Amino acid sequence: MDQRDILRLGSVRDVAHFKSHLDLLKLVIPCDDELVTSQESPLAQPWIGNGIKVGNRIAVQPMEGWDGTADGNPSEHTVRRWQRFGRSGAKLIWGGEAVAVCHEGRANPNQLLASPSTKAGLAQLRKVLVGEHRAAMGSEDGLLLGLQLTHSGRYSRPSLQNRPEPRILYRHPILDRRLKLSNDFPVLTDMEIEGIIEQFHVAAVMAQDLGFHFVDIKHCHGYLGHEFLSAYTRPGKYGGSFENRTRFLREIVQGVRAAAPGLLIGVRLSAFDAIPYLPDPKLSSNGKLGPGIPEDYRELVPYQWGWGVEQNNPAHGDLGDAVRFLSLLRDLNITLVNITAGSPYYTPHIQRPALYPPSDGYQPPEDPLAGVARQMEAVRQLKQQFPNLMIVGSAYSYLQDFLPSVAQAAVRAGWVDSIGLGRMVLSYPEILLDVIEGRTFQHKLICRTFSDCTTAPRNGLPSGCYPLDSYYKKSPEAAQLKQAKLKILPAPKN
Ligand SMILES: Cc1cc2nc3c(=O)[nH]c(=O)nc-3n(C[C@H](O)[C@H](O)[C@H](O)COP(=O)(O)O)c2cc1C
Ligand code: SF4
Repeated sequence: MDQRDILRLGSVRDVAHFKSHLDLLKLVIPCDDELVTSQESPLAQPWIGNGIKVGNRIAVQPMEGWDGTADGNPSEHTVRRWQRFGRSGAKLIWGGEAVAVCHEGRANPNQLLASPSTKAGLAQLRKVLVGEHRAAMGSEDGLLLGLQLTHSGRYSRPSLQNRPEPRILYRHPILDRRLKLSNDFPVLTDMEIEGIIEQFHVAAVMAQDLGFHFVDIKHCHGYLGHEFLSAYTRPGKYGGSFENRTRFLREIVQGVRAAAPGLLIGVRLSAFDAIPYLPDPKLSSNGKLGPGIPEDYRELVPYQWGWGVEQNNPAHGDLGDAVRFLSLLRDLNITLVNITAGSPYYTPHIQRPALYPPSDGYQPPEDPLAGVARQMEAVRQLKQQFPNLMIVGSAYSYLQDFLPSVAQAAVRAGWVDSIGLGRMVLSYPEILLDVIEGRTFQHKLICRTFSDCTTAPRNGLPSGCYPLDSYYKKSPEAAQLKQAKLKILPAPKN
């Protein structure tokens, strides 16, 4: 699909036009005609279940920072981001950002790290967030605060920005090639995995000491927890059967419950996926990458290297795996679930619908609204089957000005329990709070999915919204970003 054929949502006048546009695209996305203000709003209602109370239906999604110090402590940029998370008024903070349980598992050399030397830094992040939340909302009542714990596995890059140091669980016919891994590249041993599991236990104890209510054992986006779920071809106790592929999770849960009793556990899951996509080489020219197309999988079916994909047609997602996984979470008495999809590394249009891809990405192969609708429908189906789980949905930012109308309708209709805000929080943290409180809506701050918040960190710059957040707009980093974009993606001559 040519990007020029996609209607810019910024040019859609009102909800009525937005709805007719959805009809034209044959997409089903609930959307309310009128926004409800005050405590009557569906978004202002608390969620209560299984002994857990969350004060409203707004969640801040985790967004990995690339701006911590070399030893994994927060920098002033990180602190500012967490302040803004607090200011959003969200009563659910799902993780803040991915925090690595060990140095080797960092996704970038500036990712936050859980270690004794970062404990005070993480405490500061929590403190500033809670302080801003209290100032915005009047109290901490109903605030549920989690820390996302991660190991980046295949996408570890702990030492240098330009030096990947993958830790893989099995040989992958496409991703190994992309990462240029030699035929004898080592896979993690069972003993190394046991060591990582212990590091999750230690990090969870620290999170509890710091006053976090829960830890998220990250199982999404191609990182280690997610890779376990597709480890069909791995021999031994961590691969093959469903039981073995989920042993990592179960052993973490068991250890966390023993070492940090009372600490809640959540899981963020890529519920479905597709075979890795690549920019269509036939349509890439002048340094401009073509739209995404699936890798050629004719020789690879039945496809044994994917989670949440149809084995015989891996360009398509399949929710069967997620249903089985959520049944396991229910059996483990885990109530907090955050549904996302795909991976930013190989299926970005599925994970993070955007009109303007990061400069090393590809053009969207579909109207990004289709990506939003796909994630919303998956959440609707899972919520229907697991009514007692507290399910957070993802990928709403592309809805732009219509995000509040869709969020309100989705919660009202029981499609989802909490609206997870990702990129929109970087540009306009208070978007849903402004609606609830009847304040002026700040159109100028609406995230237009320019993807600079992804391009910048990939070039070693702090995480943030360069086009819209005045803190970055005129910063030296913004100029650097412009240069980096020019280097990676030369502007077409015509
Ligand atoms: C800069 C950036 C960093 C991200 N880091 C994380 C992360 O650390 N952990 C995670 O689970 N998701 C991460 N995500 C994904 C978001 O949480 C979210 O799922 C995604 O952006 C889609 O939601 P949105 O449409 O509201 O942006 C990140 C996204 C962005 C843009
Ligand atoms: S840089 Fe800003 S406008 Fe662009 S996607 Fe990120 S948050 Fe949205």
